[in-house]
Amino acid sequence: MKMNFKGANIISIREFSKEDIVRILDVARDMVPAAKGQKANRSLEDKILATLFFEPSTRTRLSFEAAMHRLGGSVVSVQDPRTASAAKGETLSDTIRMVESYSDMIVLRHPQEGSARLAAEFSEKPVINAGDGAGQHPTQTLLDLFTIREEKGKLEDINVALVGDLKYGRTVHSLAYALALFGAKLHLVAPPTLQMPKEVVAAARKFGVEPDISTELDNVIPNADVLYVTRIQKERFPDAREYLRVAGAYKIDARTLREGKADLKIMHPLPRVTEIAPEVDRSPGAIYFRQAFNGIPVRMAILALISGVVDK
Ligand code: NCD
Repeated sequence: MKMNFKGANIISIREFSKEDIVRILDVARDMVPAAKGQKANRSLEDKILATLFFEPSTRTRLSFEAAMHRLGGSVVSVQDPRTASAAKGETLSDTIRMVESYSDMIVLRHPQEGSARLAAEFSEKPVINAGDGAGQHPTQTLLDLFTIREEKGKLEDINVALVGDLKYGRTVHSLAYALALFGAKLHLVAPPTLQMPKEVVAAARKFGVEPDISTELDNVIPNADVLYVTRIQKERFPDAREYLRVAGAYKIDARTLREGKADLKIMHPLPRVTEIAPEVDRSPGAIYFRQAFNGIPVRMAILALISGVVDK
């Protein structure tokens, strides 16, 4: 069934059908000239977006805010939890009940899994999940899918290797699900302790995709069309020694590029730490900064659709 985007919450990628995702990506493509500032779009002129970030962020917050500005709208923001009332012990539900009366849409990032869903229960206004702990990051997935579709021309029948921290990485939890939905082939490369949660693998199987699970990057490079590299999520490790054991497990460098297909694309949600060597940046396959730009048109599409100013 076609989802009614107007007023909808964006909590998990699992709530979208293939057709819904394609609709968002198509609207995002239409937004590119305005996202680059080459065309004016004032369609959210009378709207206010609230961005509440209770965890560090650069790209997600800035690109949501830039997207809102590119649509002529305004933004109110909490960017440092130490300066918000949460630091005085205010509950998330109280914060949300107040912020919904200050704004028309709320973007929330929070360290706790399930926080966005909880926030949506307390808000009449749409809530967009910008990352809930190690849970989901649906808008990142939409921009990742947009990037793959723009660069590869399709989402089905391509070999995508997800590399790094598949256990705590919320971007890959959402992305693996969506890629399986579209029928991409999944290669999951992680240290044994950081493999993809079983329920994500089970969801992929339901779509008829049997992920190839491995600890060795070398085996998957020759066949990969996309290498989606992730940071080991240091902040989620209960024990610092556990982190040190897996830190630096994989490194993409000039050798990786030589062993991969000529048109191999390297993606990363960023920030990167040591997993992609700077020498890779110059290669035509390194598309992570383009990927980061795509956050603007994709988030413009999301804001416009849930505000009801675009009907697709
Ligand atoms: C990611 C996140 O916050 O989950 N960053 C992002 O939104 N682009 C990835 C990460 O922090 O490693």
